[in-house]
Amino acid sequence: MKDNLIKTVLYPGSFDPVTNGHLDLIERACRLFDRVIVGVAVNIDKNPLFTTEERIALLEKCCSGLPNARVVSFNGLLVDALTRFQANAVLRGLRAFSDFEYELQMALMNRSLKEECETIFMMPTPQNSFVSSRMAKEVARFNGDFAQYVPAPVVMAMKKKIEAGML
Ligand code: PNS
Repeated sequence: MKDNLIKTVLYPGSFDPVTNGHLDLIERACRLFDRVIVGVAVNIDKNPLFTTEERIALLEKCCSGLPNARVVSFNGLLVDALTRFQANAVLRGLRAFSDFEYELQMALMNRSLKEECETIFMMPTPQNSFVSSRMAKEVARFNGDFAQYVPAPVVMAMKKKIEAGML
């Protein structure tokens, strides 16, 4: 048996906040791989609604029923996080064709930085294929029914942000 088969994947993202689409992907990955490390990017250019600690706490709550999932944060380059967490590959979700160009660019950039960096793409269920953190926040901001796009702990956290006038 080869010992370099993919056992651990690193699933990176902003997760501001985690959506049903993200969770769908994490659950699928947990059925395929021994370990799924969900990596919350700290140094994102965007102005996040949730702090890194809040994003991690929400992901941990949502992944509590998944024993082979672990939530971490990472700073700097994804390829360095891959080495640090001893992951064999990067996992990313592909929702639609429109995701592909950016994802291909990122996968090839990461491979040029680290030759052995492979990226695996998985698709969420079609019901989640249009869901994004950005749109869930926008629907919430304008009093729409955002609860159908995010897990229950996130619904509560987003309601608190609305009450605090932060969304
Ligand atoms: O959920 P997102 O915002 O699409 O995630 C993007 C993320 C965080 C995975 C990406 O921006 C990233 O990997 N950032 C770390 C910095 C890095 O390695 N950049 C070079 C490769 S594009």
